[in-house]
Amino acid sequence: MNLQRQLLEESLEIVKPNASEFSSLFYKRLFEDYPETKPLFAQTNLEKQEKKLIASLVLIVENLRSPEALQEALKSLGARHYQLGTLEEYYPMVGDALLKTFKAYLGEKWTQDREKAWIYAYSVICTLMLEGADSPEAYLDGELTFYEWLDLYGEYDPALMKTIAELTRFKYTKQKKSN
Ligand code: HEM
Repeated sequence: MNLQRQLLEESLEIVKPNASEFSSLFYKRLFEDYPETKPLFAQTNLEKQEKKLIASLVLIVENLRSPEALQEALKSLGARHYQLGTLEEYYPMVGDALLKTFKAYLGEKWTQDREKAWIYAYSVICTLMLEGADSPEAYLDGELTFYEWLDLYGEYDPALMKTIAELTRFKYTKQKKSN
């Protein structure tokens, strides 16, 4: 996966210290521009969810070096989204809101190269998620979740585990030993 990791990382590094602010701007933009996506989040604790999107993007970019794990993780994430009621047509809406938020947030630092890298990365992420959404039965019910895939086969990073534990409902049942 030639996803220009450095360009993706650089833009996330700028956003990371203010991840909550970035994410809340993202949801504001999404719900304003695409109100049809709002009902999906009716039961959602938005404060936690706001952090999940950026945390999952960081996870994805950090795991670009483990493409095998990432592919399976993203397929299972797509299957989970199918289960949550995410239609295929919502993916470009989220992509558009994400790019607009990056642009507004990074200003001059939102270079053409960074924009291109994100457009491409987002399309790869969506393709894999939609592959999982196409056959959810293969990825749900007993299969590993997005986080478990990354935990088992991705790079082991205690900081990452802490982020996941803090930001998501996911509980580690198969945590690796750091010896
Ligand atoms: C790059 C694309 C996307 C990524 C990386 C992503 C990431 C995530 C992650 C990591 C979760 C948490 C899953 C869990 O707790 O098991 C989640 C939940 C969710 N996502 Fe996405 N997502 C993406 C696209 C979308 C799209 C297109 C929609 C539809 C508008 C959407 C709607 C939701 C909803 C409704 C939830 C559940 C929130 C809750 O826990 O109540 N996502 N997403």
